[in-house]
Amino acid sequence: MRIPVVAAGAAYDVVVAEAFGGLGATLAERREPGRCVVVTNPVVGPLHAAALLAELRGARWLPEVLEVPDGEANKTLASWQALVEGLLVARVDRQTPILALGGGVTGDLVGFAAASVLRGVPLVQVPTTLLAMVDSSVGGKTGVNTPHGKNLVGAFHQPELVWAALDTLRTLPDAELRCGFGEVVKHVVIRGEQALAACEALAPALLARDADALAHVVADSVRTKAEIVAEDPLEAGRRAILNLGHTLGHAIEAVCGYGVIRHGEAVALGLLGVTRYAAGRGWLVEPGFPARLQALCGALGLPTHVPPGVDTAALVAAVGFDKKRTRGMLRLVVPSAPGRIDLRSIAAEEVPALVEALPSLAASDPVAPRASSWSP
Ligand SMILES: NC(=O)c1ccc[n+]([C@@H]2O[C@H](COP(=O)([O-])OP(=O)(O)OC[C@H]3O[C@@H](n4cnc5c(N)ncnc54)[C@H](O)[C@@H]3O)[C@@H](O)[C@H]2O)c1
Ligand SMILES: [Zn+2]
Repeated sequence: MRIPVVAAGAAYDVVVAEAFGGLGATLAERREPGRCVVVTNPVVGPLHAAALLAELRGARWLPEVLEVPDGEANKTLASWQALVEGLLVARVDRQTPILALGGGVTGDLVGFAAASVLRGVPLVQVPTTLLAMVDSSVGGKTGVNTPHGKNLVGAFHQPELVWAALDTLRTLPDAELRCGFGEVVKHVVIRGEQALAACEALAPALLARDADALAHVVADSVRTKAEIVAEDPLEAGRRAILNLGHTLGHAIEAVCGYGVIRHGEAVALGLLGVTRYAAGRGWLVEPGFPARLQALCGALGLPTHVPPGVDTAALVAAVGFDKKRTRGMLRLVVPSAPGRIDLRSIAAEEVPALVEALPSLAASDPVAPRASSWSP
């Protein structure tokens, strides 16, 4: 399946395929085969680099391999500098494609190096996590973390090809797969009723890693993101709706501790929270929407309530630090209905009510909590 993306003057395809077969030839449609550099990490490299290298060689490419360290903690300026130096030592030029093989961490880091070395060399994203397939590999945002916060240094650099080989997901741990489901739920809510209903119907198959079901949601998510990115490639306005669920999600991640709850799980909870808050404000078209989303999250193995013992005051403080807060007002992405996402501003004084809308295990919670995937 080939999904075209047009963004900021660039046009490229996202290919959702079973494996790597055809990647080399597809890349050769863009430029004459020659040297290229595959950058991966010590976790993904041993699992998937050999197949990618064989595919590239079979299509007359001459790949070299570089490694970056794995993990969010290594998505740093130091890793970026080491990679840029590695690329310069490898004597890349403006015709040398750099292929990022790995999850979103590797994609963001390699993407930023490709954006900056020689002021930009061709980038190919080869995402190997569900999250990277449905989210981070599409849209051209690249970057690294700093001690001041996540993703604060980076560049927009559109890839010239994205190749999502679903077979690579076979080695992905369940918890990482779930993380991707969090962003999938976000995308189907943005896309609309039909996508949401399809995802509900596919939930058991998705949990069981059924290849057709995964292909369906990956392609649908990519289309959703591609359409929004095409409208607003540099996030001047509408693209902000992709932050749905992230205001509360980032706060939950920060307060629970990165790694205790994963990003996609926190985003799912954030989505539930903001939808329930919107219900309280009378902003929802259908009052049953929060319960419907909670059921979908449960069916996908995502948490349906905030882990016990999380400090509400800490969450309120963490929301206050959210990047989207301006002049005492908080910008909030509100799912008024499937397919109808609104940007609203709420007063800072409303933040406690927003946090309290998160589903919790408290007895007073109107929506019965379900067993969740969360584990301490
Ligand atoms: N650029 C964007 O638009 C954008 C959007 C969303 C998220 N992100 C970024 O993405 C990052 C998160 O990405 P992620 O969730 O993919 O995490 P990740 O890259 O850390 O991957 C999770 C773990 O799984 C391993 N892994 C990857 N593929 C595997 C496979 N097929 N089999 C076995 N193990 C595998 C990784 O090496 C890592 O250890 C964050 O840094 C976030 O900021 C960026
Ligand atoms: Zn996210």
